[in-house]
Amino acid sequence: MDSAKLTLNGKEYDLPVLVGSEQEVAIDITQLRAQTGAITLDDGYGNTGSCKSAITFIDGDKGILRYRGYPIEELANKSSFIEVAYLLIYGELPTVDQLDQFKHDLTHHSLLPEDMKKMFEGFTSSAHPMGVLSSMVASLSTFYPETDYKQEANLNIIRLISKIKTIAAFSYKKSLGQPYIYPRNDLSYTGDLLHMMFAVPSEKYDFSPVIEDALDKLLILHADHEQNCSTSTVRMAGSSHANVYATISAGVGALWGPLHGGANQEVIEMLELIANDNMDYKKYISQAKDKNSGFKLMGFGHRVYKNFDPRAQILKGASDRVLHELGINDPLLEVAKNLERVALEDPYFIERKLYPNVDFYSGIIYKALGIPTNMFTVMFAIGRLPGWLAHWKELRDNPALRINRPRQVYTGHTRRVYTPVENR
Ligand code: SDX
Repeated sequence: MDSAKLTLNGKEYDLPVLVGSEQEVAIDITQLRAQTGAITLDDGYGNTGSCKSAITFIDGDKGILRYRGYPIEELANKSSFIEVAYLLIYGELPTVDQLDQFKHDLTHHSLLPEDMKKMFEGFTSSAHPMGVLSSMVASLSTFYPETDYKQEANLNIIRLISKIKTIAAFSYKKSLGQPYIYPRNDLSYTGDLLHMMFAVPSEKYDFSPVIEDALDKLLILHADHEQNCSTSTVRMAGSSHANVYATISAGVGALWGPLHGGANQEVIEMLELIANDNMDYKKYISQAKDKNSGFKLMGFGHRVYKNFDPRAQILKGASDRVLHELGINDPLLEVAKNLERVALEDPYFIERKLYPNVDFYSGIIYKALGIPTNMFTVMFAIGRLPGWLAHWKELRDNPALRINRPRQVYTGHTRRVYTPVENR
């Protein structure tokens, strides 16, 4: 495919075309303004590629999601979160030695600087854990000031992946008014997170392998998703060469939004609302179709997936299995399944290609694992951190990196004369 032709004001321009490794076609407009004086406008960036990336591939029509070429279904069933984190960040599945070293490094960087405990004390017990997380991640930059990207990138990656679970667990304990439980070096990454969240001093905490495996699978499924809102935010902040802690903190902030990672908390609150309203899911389906209701079916719809979100399919199966293995009968699962069944038969949802996304079933599993609703998006952030770091590393390792600086179409006042306040 050679080029695209653009005719503007009677003049014809040739625009280069590039084709990705999965045959996606892009018109390269890097020189458009220099050639034509015009820019493009794409509200919400639904048609705009912000970069070239080799990390994750999504085919929204076919419901395909692959990390570095490996299908999400295989990784979710056969890999581990730490192995997937290594794959996303360094591009290849680790050897035994590489994986052992990665695990060793992650284990031995999980402590927080003790001074950070004073910062936790500054938050009220009702502080939302995402607010604590974004603050604490940014504050790591004051303990580990970045001086040389190349020298320090890998150590900062280890520090963040290792410490994010300690920050999350400490913020949870703080909300309970319980003492912090320190990391243990004899536990797996996921096991240590569970231990720090749920153990209490002077009591041995045993978690079932079912819970550890389910949480590890959830983290894998959330690990990356190409140029989603929070990852694009990380790329935006990282393009200014901001330090990695400030950059990731920006991603945490973007993820918190209810239209993005905050949806998993909203889904459970929506399911509880319906369950408490005589399980009247049809009433809420009608509300979701009514523009004036201001109600959305949270956990439904996606900018890219227009058939099904493969992660939602995996999580639907996993929610059945985990609740059965834990002997939990959660009525919210029935509400969710009924909502999905009725919505997928309804022309409103069919016409708009609205299907369950990753957030629709994840909360049911988090809830079964004993994780409180306001920690759901923190779990999403822990899972998404390797993806954010992979994209940050990919952009920082790019010698041709330019700071992101989009243009705009100005629609405000044209030039006007200032009048002193007494004359207005
Ligand atoms: C994540 O980008 C990623 O990859 C994100 C993510 C990741 O892994 O990083 O996959 C994680 O953020 C998943 C999405 C979680 N958010 C939600 O579940 C919130 C509910 N969903 C919607 O807000 C919405 O579907 C979005 C935000 C997910 C997508 O928004 P778009 O692509 O901008 O679509 P839109 O809002 O323009 O909707 C198109 C139409 C509209 O109707 P019309 O104006 O055409 O009549 O569909 C309707 C919308 O009103 N619609 C919904 C709906 N979602 C879209 N109607 C009811 N309920 C919904 N959930």
